[in-house]
Amino acid sequence: MTSTNRLTCILILFLSLFSFVGNAQTMNNPIQIIPQPNSIELGKGEFKWNKKTKIIITNDNEELKATADYLADVLSNITKSPVKVTKGKPKAKNALILHLGKGQGEESYELNIDKDRIIIEGLKPAGIFYGIQSLLQMIPVEGGKFSLQSVQIKDNPRFSYRGMHLDVSRHFYTKEEVKKFIDLIAMYKFNRFHWHLTDAAGWRLEIKQYPLLTQKTAFRAEANYNDFWGGERKYADEGADNAHGGYYTQDDAREIVAYAASKYITVIPEIEMPGHSEEVFVAYPNLSCSGKPYVDSDFCAGNDDSFTFLNNVLDEVIDIFPSQYIHIGGDEAGKKSWKKCPKCQQRIVDENLKDVDELQSYFIKRISKHLTSRNRNLIGWDEIIDGGLASDATVMVWRGKEKGEVAARHGNHVIMTPGSHCYFDSYQADPTTEPKTIGGYLPLQKVYSFEVTPANDSLAPFYLGGQGNIWTEYMTDFKRVEYMAFPRAIALAETLWSSKESRNWSDFKARMANQYPRLELLDVNYHRPSFEIEMTEKVDTANKLVEVKFESELNNPVIRYTLDGTEPTNESAIYTSPFTIDRIAHINAAVFVDDQIQKPILKRKSGYHRAVGKKVTYNTKWQSYPAGGETALTDGYSGSLTYGDGRWQGFTSNMDVVIDMGSIVQLNSLSANFMQLTGPGVYIPKYVEVSLSNDGVNFEKAFRVESTVPKEYDRLIFQDFVGGLENKQARYIKVFAKNNGGFLFVDELVVN
Ligand code: ACM
Repeated sequence: MTSTNRLTCILILFLSLFSFVGNAQTMNNPIQIIPQPNSIELGKGEFKWNKKTKIIITNDNEELKATADYLADVLSNITKSPVKVTKGKPKAKNALILHLGKGQGEESYELNIDKDRIIIEGLKPAGIFYGIQSLLQMIPVEGGKFSLQSVQIKDNPRFSYRGMHLDVSRHFYTKEEVKKFIDLIAMYKFNRFHWHLTDAAGWRLEIKQYPLLTQKTAFRAEANYNDFWGGERKYADEGADNAHGGYYTQDDAREIVAYAASKYITVIPEIEMPGHSEEVFVAYPNLSCSGKPYVDSDFCAGNDDSFTFLNNVLDEVIDIFPSQYIHIGGDEAGKKSWKKCPKCQQRIVDENLKDVDELQSYFIKRISKHLTSRNRNLIGWDEIIDGGLASDATVMVWRGKEKGEVAARHGNHVIMTPGSHCYFDSYQADPTTEPKTIGGYLPLQKVYSFEVTPANDSLAPFYLGGQGNIWTEYMTDFKRVEYMAFPRAIALAETLWSSKESRNWSDFKARMANQYPRLELLDVNYHRPSFEIEMTEKVDTANKLVEVKFESELNNPVIRYTLDGTEPTNESAIYTSPFTIDRIAHINAAVFVDDQIQKPILKRKSGYHRAVGKKVTYNTKWQSYPAGGETALTDGYSGSLTYGDGRWQGFTSNMDVVIDMGSIVQLNSLSANFMQLTGPGVYIPKYVEVSLSNDGVNFEKAFRVESTVPKEYDRLIFQDFVGGLENKQARYIKVFAKNNGGFLFVDELVVN
């Protein structure tokens, strides 16, 4: 295929994706902004932009002037004609007026458009910047001449902290790429950029007092992080022939800080401690417990030199970054060396500490004290709670919402970045169709369902907001960062800015149609909305039915399905609303565009069966992944593509369970579906064996089914172990699955 042909094909595919966007409601609403504003009132008539339309600022304010100049640049580009900025009055005609006046809060704005003028009013320039972002999303993507619908928008963010994080240690991205990241998040009204600058994979910030940090550990022999981490983990000297990586000079960092500030984004630097610090000890081995390079992960907590070093580093960091918050990591310190290190043990005695957890708490509190002495505040990952939380620290929660509640009860501020909704390094569609990631599964709709605040309203005031995290182990270049971040960051933006009442998934999907072409124009390698179908079930035990519902990231797609295991055709039933099934069905469902089936095809075994609600006795118990606990295997719910969905029960041993059917019954078959995903160590069992009994004591073997999946098969795969039980009667059914050296995951034991 020639490249022109290929381009045409891509374009056709792209257009066909959007040909069915827009439901009646949103098609009629010309205002399609993300994040959804608090209030939109349509007026009559429209404002016609012409060559004479000017930008007017009504106040002498340097920030406002700079923001107006930025807007003039953008609009000159869009209209392909120069747009001027002048000082003037709020009543001027044929003008876009930026006016510092009233406002509900520091970041609020009002955007009024009528036939005479556009006015953006805010209490502060930040609000005006957000009004500008809303306005820009109303201008047609094609640019040139345009008209704008008369409207009054009043808007104010729900949360004050709206962050995106980027790990530049696992893979390094250039200053220009970091600026592009900032441009993109600013479009969606994020106001914090959390810059993960140091980690074992490379130290990325010039520190004048400690030049070896960047000279010795900002580069590696392996460009790809996984080759480095899975190999010898050796760094390369700056300038060496085999050096891959890089760092930001202090001037670079200042430039990025100023650039972000011009888009009302505060850069929060992260300097990791006490763990994730292997690279530091290659440059300065004396700061580790062993005193040797390439041995330890954690700073020696018993050595005052560690604190001198970190305080000096932080002082330089503070000088570069005006952010009130400085992030000091604090996550995943192994503390292994501390257990044997005489200096650490001495510190525990001297400070009257109980254990190494309290030693970590001592460490963080000492750093916090230093930051406070410099009028700054500490943010740390939620491990800083363990062993005692520093009173003025802000906790960034990544492990689970209960950590946030502990911190809030303690009176500390909380920023929510839970793995379940905010880790954009996980898969966003069926892993078999996606480039390799670290694992997990977080599609767009799940991000959109993110809720920062806890159920307990009294704790809500402690929650500042939330953040999306881009850990880059598998993101070897910035194009991959774009792919993983977008559009998930856009869904997150709405959860952080818009009121809870104004959020609506269907409407969001429709509004996304106004965003994809904009990302395209900006050459963002975003993840295209997937043709994947998400299926949810509702088990109705009273009526012995399972209700099945399909969802898609696409707006109003045509979904066709079958229940007999065959691939849907353009004659198959069209899905219109949830339906019920009273027996096990082999569901196949797919999106159709122009009568063509689109991959991936959803394949799920689902429906009511005879063991639903029956008691299961566990001879071996699940580990870490209980799903629904003792009822999980006979609750009628099937698992999705991820073992983290609360439907898959996980065993690190063999699985050995007995279903009690309640009385001796005639049987037909039993099936059990298992998953394999070798990355996190999940394997299909070697075999599944089923035995039957009438008294629960004496069992007779009924069948055994062997695995057909090689242990080496390293993509997501499932095997349904099915065996016939025709002409057999029993009350007790024992199901034994032989572990193949890792986790076993099973969702349901289906009896017919
Ligand atoms: C983290 O993901 N270790 C904060």
